[in-house]
Amino acid sequence: MKRFLPFYFLFVVNIVFSQNVSSPSNKISLNFKLTATGEPSYYVNYAKKTVISESTLGIKLKDKPALDANFVIDSVKNSSFNESWKPVLGEQANILNHYNEIIVCLSQKETNVKMNIIFRVFDEGVAFRYDFPKQTALNYFIISDEVSQFNLTENHKVFWLPGDFDSQEYAYNETSFADINTQKIDLNNGIGLKSISGKNVIQSPLMMKSPSGLYLNIFEAAVVNYPVMHLDADVKNYKLTSHLVPNAIGDKAYLQAPCVSPWRTIMISDDAKDIVSSKMILNLNEPSKIEDTSFIKPMKYVGIWWEMHLGKSTWDYAGSQNAQNVLTQDLLPSGKHGATTENTKKYIDFAAKNGFDGVLVEGWNVGWEDWFGNWKEDVFDFVTPYPDFNIAAVTAYAKLKNVKMIMHHETSGSVANYERHLDRAFDLMKKLDYPAVKSGYVGKIIPRGEFHDGQTMVNHYNFVARRAADYKLMINSHESSRPTGYGRTYPNYIAAEAARGNEFNAWSTGNPPMHETILPFTRLLGGPMDYTPGIFEIKMSYYDKSKTEQVHTTLAKQLALYVTMYSPLQMAADLPENYEKYPDAFQFIKDVAVDWDESKYIEAEPGDYLSVARKTKGKETWFLGAITDENARKSEITLDFLTKGKKYKAIIYEDAKDADWKNNPVAYKISTVEVTSKSKIKLNLAPGGGTAISFKPTK
Ligand code: NOJ
Ligand code: CA
Repeated sequence: MKRFLPFYFLFVVNIVFSQNVSSPSNKISLNFKLTATGEPSYYVNYAKKTVISESTLGIKLKDKPALDANFVIDSVKNSSFNESWKPVLGEQANILNHYNEIIVCLSQKETNVKMNIIFRVFDEGVAFRYDFPKQTALNYFIISDEVSQFNLTENHKVFWLPGDFDSQEYAYNETSFADINTQKIDLNNGIGLKSISGKNVIQSPLMMKSPSGLYLNIFEAAVVNYPVMHLDADVKNYKLTSHLVPNAIGDKAYLQAPCVSPWRTIMISDDAKDIVSSKMILNLNEPSKIEDTSFIKPMKYVGIWWEMHLGKSTWDYAGSQNAQNVLTQDLLPSGKHGATTENTKKYIDFAAKNGFDGVLVEGWNVGWEDWFGNWKEDVFDFVTPYPDFNIAAVTAYAKLKNVKMIMHHETSGSVANYERHLDRAFDLMKKLDYPAVKSGYVGKIIPRGEFHDGQTMVNHYNFVARRAADYKLMINSHESSRPTGYGRTYPNYIAAEAARGNEFNAWSTGNPPMHETILPFTRLLGGPMDYTPGIFEIKMSYYDKSKTEQVHTTLAKQLALYVTMYSPLQMAADLPENYEKYPDAFQFIKDVAVDWDESKYIEAEPGDYLSVARKTKGKETWFLGAITDENARKSEITLDFLTKGKKYKAIIYEDAKDADWKNNPVAYKISTVEVTSKSKIKLNLAPGGGTAISFKPTK
């Protein structure tokens, strides 16, 4: 009898403490309860149907009892929040943050450890995080595992990337949940460093579609002082469990209470547009910690970049790319160095002539002869230019032409070295008035044994953003962990690559036409992407007959990407001479805005297509981008986003009738029509194609 009592008591307590919290619209509801053994658990309903079945939550500690069972509920706090805020740069001028919250305060019976779980329910999904209050029973602790479950109810269609702790630069795999298998993917994909962790480990954000047409997305927000969350997929039972990226000795996170975990997010809707337009990830981050944000400005830029990816020129000066142990000894110029003073001036002229804000120069600094592949610590010092790059002359010339220079800091993964030089590197940028830096993390990380997605590296990327904010500098990181909305808190972190960018099309199997229709549902939920669109010479055979690589696109789709792939930092990535060949199409890149008052998603289906219209910040002009995957697509859209009663001149940049990403990618057609908010426009997208439209009010 005695042993029965506590169970009975728990059972009663569980019924009493089963807590429901609904979204403001009531469509989504989350239920929390403790199981019979005191495990925290939850399930989620959408329109009264269970979409996440009972899933347990918990944290495992190194050398301490696990925080995954034997809990009792101390108290439950309910609240609601409804407020809008203005991002410094964004897809829209105002963002509504509206949710209902419960905080379940738990304590563990044997250990007395207190742990709270905070749930927020928004109209487009739910979020939860672990909160460790200040207490004597738990001070310093090491997380050895997080066991947050996301139990699905059906065999969904899934867009997945293998759980690689060092890279997200993969193309998406579209399979059923049951068919997830990282061993089946083609690894001849251009990714230099791969650390795939298991057959059924995949990455978040994870976009899914149920057999009945419900869209689900599992991700995280506010990853601060914590590793990235990948997911273990139990392919037989349709279950997902958090899989934290370890550090060099296998631990996951070193924490001290009071502290919180990142938010775990589940977005749900029967309309894919709700997912792609959701601001839930940003809303779950802290407001800006930068008081004076006046230095944070959107930028369109060109740069000495694509020519290296084409192999026309090199980053290094001596032409000994990846040779062993060459640093600052007398280097003999190979004649192929891209970042020369003269070449940079050409790009500055081109930027000035065409109204671009900035010029990026890669390969300007000493160290590229053996920059990557040797796990070498002292690669770059980030302040010493090559002898043929006169940094003072370049700076003066840029100033004269009213163009800003964008700094490049490739760390080649040697983060220890970068942190040592960071302040001097930022000092140089301030001295020369460079407003922004593109950083890069190609190769194996130093401190050796760390992964790109571990806690140490997450702390590094966030530290660089904070330090850059002290210097009033903007950051665009490549090969960093993917953003989770921290750009709300540090809006100077204006963009990141952190996914398979356009560059892969130049020298690898590239990005299939559906790639850009998935990124807005995954990578872009966490923040803007420096995808580097705008390639007009699409086939690499143009440069070298023997080459078969190509961008998997039509030219018109490259234009549309400026609108579908939101970023306040956008590159016109192709060579100036290629733009000069197609001045009419180039006009769209010159005109398109990068910072917006409003964004209206018109059509969306992950892996298939996406159409969005955006209103320029502070102006009456609108831009529309529509893209498709490898299938041609026809649709008709109403322009009801335009201001009623106003007339607009619409310039339509579309695929020519016979355009096709593979056989005829450059064929495009430009036409001009007068439209109002009542007009309809027919979209005719070629296989792998797109349409871009600019709308300007007529006087
Ligand atoms: C990879 C980056 O994504 C690319 O943009 C850059 O040019 C190279 N690293 C060299 O830093
Ligand atoms: Ca990259």
